[in-house]
Amino acid sequence: MKILVTGGAGYIGSHTIVELIKAGHSVIITDNLCNSHKNAVARVEQITGTSVPLYAADIRDSAALSRVLDEHPADACIHFAGLKSVGESNSHPCEYYDNNISGTLNLISVLRAHNVKNIIFSSSATVYGIPEKSPVTEDCPKGICTNPYGWTKWMAEQILTDLHNADPSWNIVLLRYFNPIGAHPSGLIGENPNGIPNNLMPYITQVAVGKRECLHIFGNDYDTPDGTGVRDYIHVVDLARGHVKALEAIKRNCGVALYNLGTGKGCSVLELVKTFEAVNHVHIPYVIEPRRAGDVAVCYSDPGKAERELGWKAEYGIEEMCRDSWNWQKNNPQGY
Ligand code: NAD
Ligand code: UD1
Repeated sequence: MKILVTGGAGYIGSHTIVELIKAGHSVIITDNLCNSHKNAVARVEQITGTSVPLYAADIRDSAALSRVLDEHPADACIHFAGLKSVGESNSHPCEYYDNNISGTLNLISVLRAHNVKNIIFSSSATVYGIPEKSPVTEDCPKGICTNPYGWTKWMAEQILTDLHNADPSWNIVLLRYFNPIGAHPSGLIGENPNGIPNNLMPYITQVAVGKRECLHIFGNDYDTPDGTGVRDYIHVVDLARGHVKALEAIKRNCGVALYNLGTGKGCSVLELVKTFEAVNHVHIPYVIEPRRAGDVAVCYSDPGKAERELGWKAEYGIEEMCRDSWNWQKNNPQGY
């Protein structure tokens, strides 16, 4: 299939494009590069030996998107483009709603005008709010989000579902990611956050490479085996492969389909730190801080639906995630 990938220069998008090309699909990227670098696409071309057209178009720019689709008629769109920082969304909520919601609405309208009615959307476990229980299954109700970023995912899922209800010829796959970490084993592409990382793994790798002094662990008094927060970390290459499987569901006219993409295994902050140290032979100094507002003690997925319906299952474990995150960071201490 020919796939329009919005946000394809970003962390998850770049890894997904590698897997799409490996599976025989062809790809066109639109990305305004607000949180990414065109070198990521050059690295994808290096890994795959395939040239990938990149258009520096904003998803809110109808004319630019239309030109791209006129030139490259697509069969489906994988929609990664969006702003993703929880903290920034609290301080700049309107920018988040504009980018993530107006952007998605605009994209839908241009896709419809070009008769592209297949879309895979990057959602997040954040739509569950504070989950009542883990493992979280897809039939757990969507919850109350704790920040505007989360609400944009919650609302975009609803918009896409309503779109299918109004016009069942749309196929929509909503993928709820748990905690993506890791990098392509080549060490050529990986996560490249701007400024101080909010998320755990990029903070750990920046401590390991000497950019930050020590890790701050937010809380060791949770009701978990070692007191630190438990999450479902998933290797970004496994996550990327989930999108290739989702395209197969689209070919089967799946209607609206919703999947958790996680490993189903919980891992605590301390477990991740200790594994990172053991696998990579580096020391990660840390201090314990108070809990971070909005954090839950435990959140991990039940990924069984994706396995049953898509034939997808995460293959990598925490060791490989730690190895590949470090391999990327140490080979690219300044990112791209
Ligand atoms: P990322 O920031 O690396 O990639 C997003 C890409 O979208 C960037 O390249 C950015 O330049 C681009 N972009 C942003 N706004 C745009 C716009 N208006 N027009 C065109 N391009 C635009 O983030 P990522 O980690 O690769 O995340 C991809 C998607 O997955 C996002 O929608 C994110 O919310 C979602 N998601 C990410 C995580 C995670 O932990 N990384 C978890 C759950 C969901
Ligand atoms: C966060 C976002 C979530 C988003 C997800 C993936 C919040 C409240 N939630 O989830 O919306 O979908 O990222 O991008 O921000 N930790 C530390 N020290 C750090 C960083 C994190 O101890 O410097 C701990 C956290 O308290 C948590 C775990 O590490 O227990 C994972 O944190 P993080 O990587 O930020 O992911 P989430 O909080 O799960």
